[in-house]
Amino acid sequence: MSEPHPDMPKQWIKGMEPTMNDKGFMFAILDEFANEFIQLSGASEDEVLELGCAYGVATIKALEAGGRVTACDMDERHLEVLLSRVPDECRDRLTLKAGTLPDIDLPENHFGAVLCSRVIHFLRGDDIDATVRNVFRWLKPGGRFFLVADTPYGIWRNFIPTWDANIEKGERWPGLMERLLDFLPFTPSREDAGPEFMNLMSPDLLERTCKEAGFEVERAVWVRRDDFGSKGRMDGRENCGLAAIKPV
Ligand SMILES: C[S@@+](CC[C@H](N)C(=O)[O-])C[C@H]1O[C@@H](n2cnc3c(N)ncnc32)[C@H](O)[C@@H]1O
Repeated sequence: MSEPHPDMPKQWIKGMEPTMNDKGFMFAILDEFANEFIQLSGASEDEVLELGCAYGVATIKALEAGGRVTACDMDERHLEVLLSRVPDECRDRLTLKAGTLPDIDLPENHFGAVLCSRVIHFLRGDDIDATVRNVFRWLKPGGRFFLVADTPYGIWRNFIPTWDANIEKGERWPGLMERLLDFLPFTPSREDAGPEFMNLMSPDLLERTCKEAGFEVERAVWVRRDDFGSKGRMDGRENCGLAAIKPV
């Protein structure tokens, strides 16, 4: 058993590991999109790519399924923890790549599948579009893309009136939320907790950005995450997810 990373924040809720860079949590429970990515990873000869992998909850399962995985994150410390958790017999099928979206140096027309789970809501609109265009370049023709993001219907419910007003005004990115502390349902213990802004998404927004990049969208749906809060407080739209294919 290796020593815990010295920068690892204290985990105060079971199943939610805080990131080291205040970019949310890695959740132990995987959704249908991560599970499909894992299943494809094991079934395919192609290498797969996870973007914003944190400590690797999906990457490690994809490796255990027999896949070859490139795992990327902007924080090298996350990749160090990931590596310490990978079973020895899987290590030679893992490539680690530190980099910040949208611009990471990755090979074109290379990957059979890409998972980007709960990452793009940390990007401004132009960077979301640029990220999705880059994913299109990195995938092989016929490759699959799984994209998951936070919505205003999870812990950010205090933002819903602003979201609705932004949609009414025809804003391109209605979920752009600055001054996050104004919208939290509780007072955080640290003044500076959390990222500078978030860009909350919906199935329609995921679909629009992927279609504009050239993808064929297979499905774009709300994702229920009962583990995000006590049952009944939320409404089954806590995340949104999309599966798409790069046309052959
Ligand atoms: C909320 S965690 C998601 C972890 C995991 N993918 C999941 O779904 O549980 C967000 C992760 O994305 C990474 N991240 C955020 N913005 C990024 C960017 N612009 N480029 C690369 N990684 C980024 C963070 O460092 C963090 O590890």
